[in-house]
Amino acid sequence: MKVVTSIDQVRQQVKAWRQSGASIGLVPTMGFLHEGHQSLMAAAKEQNQKVIVTIFVNPIQFAPNEDLASYPRDLERDKIACQQMGVDLIFCPTASEMYEAHFNSYVDVNGLTEALCGKKRPGHFKGVCTVVTKLFNITQPDRAYFGQKDAQQLAVIKRMVCDLNVDIEIIGCPIVREADGLAKSSRNSYLSATEREAATCLYRAIQCAGEMIAQGERSVDVIAGAMQAIINAEPLAKIDYIEFVDMASFNAIDSLKQDSLCALAVYIGKTRLIDNFIYQPS
Ligand code: PAJ
Repeated sequence: MKVVTSIDQVRQQVKAWRQSGASIGLVPTMGFLHEGHQSLMAAAKEQNQKVIVTIFVNPIQFAPNEDLASYPRDLERDKIACQQMGVDLIFCPTASEMYEAHFNSYVDVNGLTEALCGKKRPGHFKGVCTVVTKLFNITQPDRAYFGQKDAQQLAVIKRMVCDLNVDIEIIGCPIVREADGLAKSSRNSYLSATEREAATCLYRAIQCAGEMIAQGERSVDVIAGAMQAIINAEPLAKIDYIEFVDMASFNAIDSLKQDSLCALAVYIGKTRLIDNFIYQPS
């Protein structure tokens, strides 16, 4: 496994792989890798001859009040996690390698980014789409892998790739959870022991919604109300949003129908966690 920090080194390797006819799978990450990231690597490994993982805490997707400075980092541990999964190349650039002094071009997807996290984190998806476009151009993969954990991010990237005719297949992968249901996240490392316990309220709310739906409930108000009650009962939790939207438009819906997304963001202490589920009637 090669670990490189410069764009030129990636381009050289990619060129050699392309010349030998190898297919390339890309897994973009911000590091502090866990089994969620590794599940994307496993999918990439299965479907491509070469796998590139990028590790870059992208400054332009963080607002000034957010956790850029404290975002967890451990490159040595990340290398081991990638090695375990048979990754061929890690690209871990510095911020100045990615953003030269006069950098001033952005990719901005409208519409889908106006709901949910986009509304709560203005500019976030512009930063994500810009860095992902750069990573696509640098690594030129056949396929790129993203988690359903960040459902809006996945939808926005699919929209961007379609709108801008980017010739890369975007593969969405299921949410990987801890034994008690908490979605794995690099940000879980911020949680104290009591906060970690409180954090199960997101999944408990999702399970409750699942049970109500199984019993025939379809009203968003009723289901969201029950979810709110579970989370509000947790003193360390503060709801940022719980919303039900149509997966295609991300417009709010009143009652569940095929391909509805329920997404929630909840502060546990100072840590903001997200989770979601898709309603797919069988
Ligand atoms: P990061 O939060 O490191 O996540 C990298 C990828 O791993 C994303 O596609 C995310 O959805 C996926 N992922 C995270 N936790 C997961 C889980 N529990 N189960 C399944 N997949 C999971 O998302 C980003 O980084 C950045 O915004 C990035 C796309 C790299 C652009 O900077």
